[in-house]
Amino acid sequence: NETVKVGLMGFGTVGTGVVRIIQGHQEDLVKQTGLSIQVEKILVQNLNKKRSLQVPSDLLTTNAYEILYSPDIDVVIEVMGGIHPAKEYILTALEQGKHVVTANKDLMALHGEEILSKAKEKQCDVFYEASVAGGIPILRALIESFSSDRITKIMGIINGTTNYILSKMSQEGADYQEALQEAQALGYAEADPTSDVEGLDAARKMVILSTLGFHIPMKLDEVEVKGISQVTKEDIAYAKKLGYEMKLLGLAEQNGKGIEVSVEPTLVHKSHPLASVHGVFNAIYVHGEAVGETMFYGPGAGELPTATSVVSDLVTVVKNMKLLVNGQGISSSYKEKKLKADDH
Ligand code: NAP
Ligand code: HSE
Repeated sequence: NETVKVGLMGFGTVGTGVVRIIQGHQEDLVKQTGLSIQVEKILVQNLNKKRSLQVPSDLLTTNAYEILYSPDIDVVIEVMGGIHPAKEYILTALEQGKHVVTANKDLMALHGEEILSKAKEKQCDVFYEASVAGGIPILRALIESFSSDRITKIMGIINGTTNYILSKMSQEGADYQEALQEAQALGYAEADPTSDVEGLDAARKMVILSTLGFHIPMKLDEVEVKGISQVTKEDIAYAKKLGYEMKLLGLAEQNGKGIEVSVEPTLVHKSHPLASVHGVFNAIYVHGEAVGETMFYGPGAGELPTATSVVSDLVTVVKNMKLLVNGQGISSSYKEKKLKADDH
C-alpha cells in the first residue's frame, strides 16, 4: 500500500492514544482508506521524559520544522495544546499545504475563523472533532446531520474533569482537591486545570458548538461563565437530599434577542437524564425546530476516546486526499506530489 505520512505535534495523553490507535487499528484503516498511515515524526518538549508508550527514539524531535517543512508529511495532527506556538505551527502547516487535525478547543474557540480561512485559501482540510466532548462525534453531527434543520438550543455536560469531580463528591462524598487530582492523574484535566474548574474549558467548547450550531461567529467574551471551584461537599449533599444533582451545564439558546450562551453549576432533578451522567462522561442535548430533542452521550475526555475522534478526522482527511488524487477534486499538494511521483 501507499503510505500517508503524519506529523504528530504532542505525545501526551491524546498523542499517545493517537499512536496506539494508528498502530493497533492499521488494518482497519487500510481497509477504509486503501492507504497505510504512518506516524513519521513526533514533536515533544522533553526528549528524556519517561513515556507510557515506547516508540523508536528517532521518531521524537523537539524541532517543529522537521514536521512543518518535511516534504514527506501530508497531515499534521496538533495535540500539544495551548495557543502559542500551536497557532503558528498550524498556520505554517497549512501554508505548506498540509492538512490539519487538532483537538485544541482553546485555539479553535479563539482563532478558529483565522485558521479555517487559511485552510480555505490553501485548499486544505482542518478538522477538530476531538476539541469538544472527547469521543462523542458532536461536531460532525452539527455540521452534517443537522444541516437541514434550524437548531434552537444546545445544552449539556461538556467537561469531563468537572463532571468527574462533581460525581465523586456526590456519589462518594469525596473531597474536591482529591477528586481533581484523580482527574489529573487520569489525563482528563487540561495542563492548567483552572480552565476546567472555572468553566473556561466548557465556555470554549460552547463557543465552538454555538458557532457551528447557529451558523454565527460566537465570541468567548459573549459567554457567561461560572465554574465549580466554590461548590462545596455540603452544597452537593444538600441538593441531593432535595432530589437534585449538581452539574456544570453549558447552555446556548435562541431567544428573541439572539443567542445566549452560558456555563454554570446547575441543579438537575434526578428524574432528568443529565443527572445520571457521571464520571468523565459527557452528554449534549441538541434541539432542532424540525427534529425536536436529540441527546448525544459518551466519554468526554481521556486517551483513547479522544484519540478515536482525532484518528477518525485523520481518516476523513486521508479519504479526501484520495478523492483528490483520483482527479475528482481540486488540486492539492498531495495530488501534485503524487502526479510528480507517477511521472517518474
Ligand atoms: P498533555 O498530556 O499535556 O500533552 C501535551 C504534549 O504536547 C506533550 O507531549 C508535550 O511534550 C507536548 N508539548 C506541549 N507544548 C509543547 C511545545 N511548545 N513544543 C513541543 N511539544 C509541546 O496534553 P493532552 O491532554 O494530550 O492534550 C492535548 C490537547 O488535546 C489539548 O489541546 C487539550 O485541550 C486537548 N484535549 C485533551 C483531552 C484529554 O482528555 N486529555 C480531550 C480532548 C481534547 P512533553 O511530553 O515532552 O512534555
Ligand atoms: N479537560 C477536558 C475535560 C478535556 O475535562 O473535558 C476534554 O476536552
